Amino acid sequence: MDKFIIRGGRPLHGEITIGGAKNAGLKLLVAGLLTSERLVLTNVPHIADIATMRALLTQHGLSAEAVNGDKTTLSVGGDITSTEAPYDIVSKMRASILVLGPLLARCREARVSLPGGCAIGTRPVDLHLKGLETLGAKITLENGYINARAPNGLVGERIVLPFASVGATENLMMAATLAKGRTEIVNAAREPEMVDLANCLNAMGAKITGAGSGHIMIDGVEALHGAQHRIMSDRIECGTYACAAAITGGDLRLIGGQIEHLGAVVRAFEEAGVEVTQEGDAMRVRRTGALRGVDIMTEPYPGFPTDMQAQFMALLSVAEGASMITETIFENRFMHVPELNRMGARINVHGSSAIIRGVHGLSGAPVMATDLRASFSLIIAGLAAHGETILSRVYHLDRGYEAVERKLAACGAAIERVKD
Ligand code: UD1
Repeated sequence: MDKFIIRGGRPLHGEITIGGAKNAGLKLLVAGLLTSERLVLTNVPHIADIATMRALLTQHGLSAEAVNGDKTTLSVGGDITSTEAPYDIVSKMRASILVLGPLLARCREARVSLPGGCAIGTRPVDLHLKGLETLGAKITLENGYINARAPNGLVGERIVLPFASVGATENLMMAATLAKGRTEIVNAAREPEMVDLANCLNAMGAKITGAGSGHIMIDGVEALHGAQHRIMSDRIECGTYACAAAITGGDLRLIGGQIEHLGAVVRAFEEAGVEVTQEGDAMRVRRTGALRGVDIMTEPYPGFPTDMQAQFMALLSVAEGASMITETIFENRFMHVPELNRMGARINVHGSSAIIRGVHGLSGAPVMATDLRASFSLIIAGLAAHGETILSRVYHLDRGYEAVERKLAACGAAIERVKD
């Protein structure tokens, strides 16, 4: 298992290129199940979760191959030879549940392992299943697996989601592209990744309108065809490096970063005393004055993203005054708190809220990564801390961030990866 050794106290200056979005790329790979032709994706991030999704597609009979040796371009296609998504892959990565809708729509049956719990909460999939049942699927749960069948194909219907779930909206949107008639998804998730997925599906011949709003309409078609699509840039990776720039009092240009995808995060940065501007194709982040405490609540898009909560908490741990962060999306997403406190932060958790009392400085310590975003919050803290921080269990980070140490070191950070 790899570790990171970080020596803090150096402001970050320079440029970082933001990669393709993990949370868009995973679903776009899955979209390859909806056609017998090849789907070519560009700007694919080189991260472990994408490798896991490729393994799952291989299990279904598809291939996802690099084009001309370029790992950022994948050609997805082939015949579906198995409609089963086994436990060993689904338990590794929850996004695997997204094959359920496409397999059911295309092959009229699917057997997908239930994902079970994960580090940041129980995360049920009831909304995915209820929505597919509304489209006519017969679903039973047996031996830890979801067995879904639609012998006569799915039929369009009106689905009202009680919560704007990202995954459920995507699963249902993909399934509905091949259903008979019109599907409406009401209270749909509005994340920019939804728009990216809909754009790709439409390029494949789907008829989707309203993606990005809370009301999506899909007119089913007989078949989808191949297409080429560029994966949007990763707004969470961008926001994460912005926190690193801000905590070190640095100045970074984040190439590919788009302020319009980070509205609530940019507002929080500005309130905290961090300057964020769009300069052509780059988002520039700099801080010259003091950091101020801010109150934040995570919400579905366009609210403040839960995937930025841990990183922002690290930033606020050294801000003047007190801050409060309330987590409304996941019930157990404060696992970074005890680790940040070991580095000298003063954070108390009360139910779903954390009170952060700003301290003058953090001190390096051995800390442990617990999940993807929590891991990066410890790097952010380590970049500002006096002395050495040793972050273990870096594999959590490798799931979703590409070349972290290379990107940070190029901007002046003292960070190295060591093998255990
Ligand atoms: C996606 C993102 C994840 C992000 C999250 C919220 C991917 C691969 N992952 O996860 O990074 O943190 O959106 O922005 O894109 N829920 C139910 N029943 C369901 C589905 C969800 O109760 O059937 C609950 C979950 O337990 C959770 C909340 O709804 O508390 C949000 O989940 P959801 O929006 O579905 O997130 P994911 O798609 O899992």
